[in-house]
Amino acid sequence: MADLDDIRDGKEYGIGVAQQADGFFLKGSAHLDWGMQDRLSRIFNPATGKTVMLAFDHGFIMGPTSGVERIDLSILPLIEHADCLMCTRGVLRSLVPPTSRKPVCLRSDAGTSIMTELNHNVVIDVQDAVRLNASAIAVMVAVGDPATEADTIANLYQAVDDGLAAGIPVMGVTAVGKDMARDARYFGLASRICAENGANIVKTYYTEGFEKVVACCPVPIVIAGGKKLPEKEALELAYMAIRSGAAGVDMGRNVFQSEKPAAMIKAVGAVVHQGMKPADALQLFHDTPHP
Ligand code: R5P
Repeated sequence: MADLDDIRDGKEYGIGVAQQADGFFLKGSAHLDWGMQDRLSRIFNPATGKTVMLAFDHGFIMGPTSGVERIDLSILPLIEHADCLMCTRGVLRSLVPPTSRKPVCLRSDAGTSIMTELNHNVVIDVQDAVRLNASAIAVMVAVGDPATEADTIANLYQAVDDGLAAGIPVMGVTAVGKDMARDARYFGLASRICAENGANIVKTYYTEGFEKVVACCPVPIVIAGGKKLPEKEALELAYMAIRSGAAGVDMGRNVFQSEKPAAMIKAVGAVVHQGMKPADALQLFHDTPHP
């Protein structure tokens, strides 16, 4: 029974002291509900405002491409160095230990492979993202591709509706249409379209003039690494993106196809979170032993 005769009167009311009203550290996210901000705070480090997402969803269109043939052997040892994991539900359930305690950005569109025309995807049921405790869902948008632009924007729109209902942020993933120039004008357009349709994060590619892409996108942008580059160039890419205002990277091949993947993700992390110069990060990469 409740001890009703020992309810002590409170004394510390802080009269005259305004209640703390924290802002929110991420661009464009201050008006989101608590669950959305909580999930975003798991993906992005509140101390730096940045994230290193480790992308290993490539198999959903490419199959067992180099570096993801055996995710248990190649990717799981890297998880401890990542802020967030980006993968499909199949790999998450079959290979990623739920005890890893890492937020997941769940690849949530599917339907095509490199064997056919890409981008004719549909969105998976958001309830599965809820079951998997996803911190975000990622949906690709093919701006400029006449065959799939409308459908992929509709996918994003649906994902945003579903994500809002479940409190799960959505990452819009810009796919490059076949005839599109990979320049700031195109990426600025594609990123803005994702944000206008409700994406809470945008993933796109670094290009010259990237500060304009970032400036006109009202939500945080992370960059994909793209095809494997020499480590020096990949670190320069990450550095330039961060310096231009990116909120992090969503990097896959430049990490897991490196000769020293753990050293590489550590070096990328130093660039992203500490603003380490590429030359110093490359030195860190060289100095880190391959386990
Ligand atoms: C590709 O299918 C995925 O969206 C990847 O997650 C994305 O491109 C990032 O991986 P990478 O750094 O290898 O480009």
